[in-house]
Amino acid sequence: MVGMEVESVVRERYRQGAEERVADLCCPADYDPRYLAAIPDEVLERDYGCGDPSRHLREGETVLDLGSGTGKICFIAAQVVGAAGRVIGVDMTGEMLAVARRNAPVVAERLGFANVEFRRGRIQDLALDFDLLDEALAREPVASAEGLMRAAALADGLRRTRPLIADGSVDVVVSNCVLNLVDGQEKGRLFQEIHRVLRNGGRAVISDIVSDEPVPLELQQDPELWSGCISGALTESGFLAAFEAAGFYGIRILERQREPWRTVAGIEFRSLSVEAFKGKEGICLERRQAVVYKGPFREVLDDDGHRMRRGERYAVCDKTFNLYQREPYRSSFEFVEPLEEVPLEAAQPFDCSRTALRHPRETKGQDYQVTTEAEACCAPGNCC
Ligand SMILES: C[S@@+](CC[C@H](N)C(=O)[O-])C[C@H]1O[C@@H](n2cnc3c(N)ncnc32)[C@H](O)[C@@H]1O
Repeated sequence: MVGMEVESVVRERYRQGAEERVADLCCPADYDPRYLAAIPDEVLERDYGCGDPSRHLREGETVLDLGSGTGKICFIAAQVVGAAGRVIGVDMTGEMLAVARRNAPVVAERLGFANVEFRRGRIQDLALDFDLLDEALAREPVASAEGLMRAAALADGLRRTRPLIADGSVDVVVSNCVLNLVDGQEKGRLFQEIHRVLRNGGRAVISDIVSDEPVPLELQQDPELWSGCISGALTESGFLAAFEAAGFYGIRILERQREPWRTVAGIEFRSLSVEAFKGKEGICLERRQAVVYKGPFREVLDDDGHRMRRGERYAVCDKTFNLYQREPYRSSFEFVEPLEEVPLEAAQPFDCSRTALRHPRETKGQDYQVTTEAEACCAPGNCC
């Protein structure tokens, strides 16, 4: 099964899943009960998630939920980010969107603010707004080969001029049990789209089903298993590698289900929640800063290929120095500033393609000859 075949099988299964609860599509996940009270039963009953990425959101953030279904994660996220934040859910199944859209005003009324909206599109093509395309096609229906060419050009125009989700417009992309449903040929584009819509410094927090071995071809041909979150699952390492290939950094597993959710032909399928950051691109400048990897591993290799031994002082560019002071690195490093600051305007280019130690004299200056007395750090009577 490939491309549109996968998509129509998935759409049909979730059309049914929107109309009534389908028990075998559920992989039980725990949500913070505080946030469930405001969400109508119709939404909660049709829960087809496998994790809870909303736990990793913060107040005021703009969040995009891929494959939002009936809207549960969006409605939880709405409460976590609060009135100052914003939540957008994207789904391709009209029936799922209908449930989400009719419940949005109910949730808004209960919360006292409205910060959620739902848009129709495919998550591997987040620029194309299906509602806008439908409107345009209603005016000019496709009835010939030429018409099909015109429709393709129209879609391209919409992507450019009225994108469903604009470049760099989102703080956090979340998704709950959806990425596996996208055809294998389009998975690369899907991860690139996640990267495109995030702002620099933004992050993805994705819960999905992964497998402990590659899914063999015969399982990939089974429509039931496709729409049931099995056939399209990436391996655990393949899932992380897909973020890496799309240009993400600081990728880490936040949660991994210990017991498999399902085992099929001896292959284990379980939920994995992963966090990945965007924004290591940019110029590298020399400001004589250094970092010390604290351990516990003897050495680490970062996403730029810098191999650092525990306890050694490494020269880093200004961008890396700032990046390491944020999550997810902050607690793994000590930071050494130069005694005399190098102003940003005066900073020279830094060669990030190599890993170099930073001699303490580079930080302090070659002429540094200070001698000091020990500071009184002990209480009277206690000798160090
Ligand atoms: C397993 S359900 C998860 C729904 C929701 N995230 C939840 O936690 O309940 C998968 C959802 O993703 C949507 N979906 C699947 N493939 C999609 C695609 N390529 N583009 C947009 N939505 C998609 C389906 O319509 C369905 O609503």
